[in-house]
Amino acid sequence: MNLLITGGAGFIGSHVVRRFVLNYPNYQIFNLDALTYAGNLENLKDIDSKENYNFIKGDINDMPFISELFQEHQFDGVIHLAAESHVDRSISDPLDFVQTNVVGTVNILNAFKSCNENNFEGKRFYHVSTDEVYGTLGKDGLFTEQTPYDPRSPYAASKASSDHLVRAYGETYDMPYVISNCSNNYGEYQFPEKLIPLFINNIINNRSLPVYGDGDYTRDWLYVKDHAIAIDHIFHKGKNHETYNIGGFNEWKNLDLVKLLCSLMDQKLGRAKGSSEKLITFIEDRPGHDKRYAIDASKLNKELGWTPSVTFEKGLSKTIDWFLENKKWLENVISGDYVEYYQKQYTQ
Ligand code: NAD
Ligand code: TYD
Repeated sequence: MNLLITGGAGFIGSHVVRRFVLNYPNYQIFNLDALTYAGNLENLKDIDSKENYNFIKGDINDMPFISELFQEHQFDGVIHLAAESHVDRSISDPLDFVQTNVVGTVNILNAFKSCNENNFEGKRFYHVSTDEVYGTLGKDGLFTEQTPYDPRSPYAASKASSDHLVRAYGETYDMPYVISNCSNNYGEYQFPEKLIPLFINNIINNRSLPVYGDGDYTRDWLYVKDHAIAIDHIFHKGKNHETYNIGGFNEWKNLDLVKLLCSLMDQKLGRAKGSSEKLITFIEDRPGHDKRYAIDASKLNKELGWTPSVTFEKGLSKTIDWFLENKKWLENVISGDYVEYYQKQYTQ
C-alpha cells in the first residue's frame, strides 16, 4: 500500500505518521507537508530513517505538483490532515484558511480522482476534520454525526466547506471516503499557540496566562495519541461514505482546566502552591467565541470498539513532562515568527 498522509509534520499528523510507519512496515508512507510555521520535521526525527517513511516537501495549493505526485505514486490511500488549524489566525487572515482548507482539499480530491480514472477499487480517501463544524452547544447536549453543520469561525467554516466537498465527491464520483470530526486535542509536539502548550510555555517562563473573556467556555479534550489510534481504526475498519465523531468524553471549562494545569506545573517545577495561578490574566474575549463543544463518540465506540485509553489527568501530566524534557524543541518553535505572532495576538 502506498499511503499519502498530508500535514504529517504538524501536531496530529506527526502522531499519525509515527503510528502508521511503526505499525505497518509493509506500507510505504508518504508525508506531504509544506512546512508552514506549524510544520516541523523535528516532530518526526525518531522515525525519519525508517525504510517505509518518505518525506515530500510540497504545497497542496500547487496543483501541477500535486497531480504529478499522484501520477508518480498512485496512492492507494490518502489521510488528509494538512490545514490551517488555529481559530485566532483564521479571525485575522480568513483567506489563508479558504485557500488551504477549501481549495487545497479540492486539489487533493481532484488529483485522487484523476489518477484513479474514477475506478476506486480498493482505494480510500480519509478526511480529518473537527467538531467545530457543528457550531456551539448550550449547557446540555452533545454533537452527534447527525447534528446540522453551523460553523461560526472562518476556520470552522473552511473545514465545514471541505467536509461538504469530500461528501460531494463521494456522491458525484462514487469516491470511497470516510470523515472524522474530532474534539480538541492536546499532547506532545503541539504548537504553543493553542491553549494547553501556550499556557505550559508561559508558566515555564513566568509570563501571564491570557484567558479569553471570563474563561467560562467548555471544550472536550482528547489526548492526541488516542486520536491517532481512532484514525487508524477508522482508516482500516470504517465504512465507506460514513462519518465518525471522535471525542474524549472529557469536558472542561477553560478556567478549571487552567487551574488544574497551574497546580500540576507548580508541583513539577517545585514552585510554591498557587504561584502559577497568579499568572492568570483575563483579556478581551475572542470574537464569536463558541461557548461549548462536546462530542458523542458512541458510534465509533460501538461500531469500531474505540475508546480513549488515557485519562485527562494522566495525559496532561505526560504532556507537561514532555514539554519540560524537550525545552530545546520549545525554544526552536518559539523563536522567529512566533514572537511577532504573540505580540500581534496578545498585546492590546
Ligand atoms: P497543525 O497546524 O499542527 O498542522 C498542520 C500541518 O499542515 C502543518 O505541518 C503544516 O505545515 C501543514 N500544512 C499547512 N498548510 C499546508 C499546505 N498548503 N500544504 C501542505 N501542508 C500544509 O494542525 P493539527 O492541529 O495537527 O491539525 C491537523 C488536522 O486535524 C487539521 O485538518 C485540523 O483541522 C484537524 N483537527 C485538529 C484538532 C486539534 O485540536 N488540533 C482537532 C480536530 C481536528
Ligand atoms: P484553542 O486551543 O485555540 O482551541 P479551539 O479554539 O479550537 O477550541 O482554544 C481552546 C479554548 O481556550 C477556547 O475556548 C479559547 C481559549 N483560549 C484562551 O482563553 N486563551 C488563549 O490564549 C487561547 C489560545 C485559547
